[in-house]
Amino acid sequence: MTSAPKQTVTPFLVEAESESGVDYGILMRDFGTQPITDELVARFEKVTGHRAHPLLRRGLYFSHRDLEKVLDCHEKGVPIYLYTGRGPSSDTMHVGHMIPFIFTCYLQKVFNCPLVIQLTDDEKFFWKALELKQARMLARENAKDIIAFGFDITKTFIFQDTEYIKEMYLNICEIQKRVTFSSVKSIFGFTDSTSCGRIAFPAIQAAPSFSSSFVKLLGDKQRYCLIPCAIDQDPYFRMTRDVAPRMNELKPALIHCKFVSGLQGASSKMSSSIPNSAIFLDDTPKKIKAKINGSKSGGGETRELHRQHGATIENDVAYEYLTFFMEDDDELKRIHDEYKAGRLESGEVKKILIDILTPIVQNIQQNRSVVTDEMVDAFMAIRKLDAS
Ligand code: TRP
Repeated sequence: MTSAPKQTVTPFLVEAESESGVDYGILMRDFGTQPITDELVARFEKVTGHRAHPLLRRGLYFSHRDLEKVLDCHEKGVPIYLYTGRGPSSDTMHVGHMIPFIFTCYLQKVFNCPLVIQLTDDEKFFWKALELKQARMLARENAKDIIAFGFDITKTFIFQDTEYIKEMYLNICEIQKRVTFSSVKSIFGFTDSTSCGRIAFPAIQAAPSFSSSFVKLLGDKQRYCLIPCAIDQDPYFRMTRDVAPRMNELKPALIHCKFVSGLQGASSKMSSSIPNSAIFLDDTPKKIKAKINGSKSGGGETRELHRQHGATIENDVAYEYLTFFMEDDDELKRIHDEYKAGRLESGEVKKILIDILTPIVQNIQQNRSVVTDEMVDAFMAIRKLDAS
């Protein structure tokens, strides 16, 4: 009997033994989340009146909790809000970080609703070799990248924990009172030697899931929350959903995406801590080209073998990135079939990706270059959001 390849997925570590990466079916079973079915995508399109985003129709957003309830709200005209976040651990974001923000931007348009974005400078201080001052500065730098994605300022609030904490503190206390050490130990793998900053932090990521943490921005009527995030963040919200009813709060709904692999292959995700695994948003076109050309390929060892057997698509990083970034479904399907059959070569697939990804990154760079500190202040200002 062969045992399934090992995998570890926590907010702090994503590792898969298998060359083709994380087994998301097993993960959904372990986490207890629901798959996004074709029927659910069809209902999403019907209720919102918008075509599903490529990331949704291609199954890159693949799992959820209570997404139906969000659609019920939208159908009845009951207002909701969106919550997402980022841990500021490096001064520029990479291509993997783009995915949740691209998708959140789309959801904000589709639901025409307010959005809050948490920058967990405190979390990164607890987890990384960073001074608090640095983490706070990185949060502001990351806010500039996020603004460059084109969020609507009238409906978007960006906040860093070390600044906004006071407004959320009542909820944080209510959560902390209800979560035991043994529960965070089992959810997050904490031990007796874990710092109490780390142990207390999950309540801080949980608090924005309740609209009562944003009374000045959203008003005081309870609202349903939808959280788009990568699946590794689910443990925080499992904990949140567990305490919500005991606080007379609504359980947040979630929609989860897969990881973007590192350039070296699917066994680890793209990470700022491994510089060669990532394409950064400030990389030059030349660098992007070199990085993609050096990425892990699923093509045959020699041209001959490739023609004979075709590519192992599951292990091909360039093809995977195309599934995230190529707009045209028919063209993607053509590339898939031709590459698999060995008629398209690895170098050609990489070239297609370079031609698609370079302008996307350049566009963000251009947008970012005009983001000022005043704009960051404006997005971070506590004010009533347009919540139509
Ligand atoms: N912990 C996340 C990170 O390290 C940041 C985060 C905070 C987040 N709140 C969130 C991510 C909500 C998704 C949704 O990147």
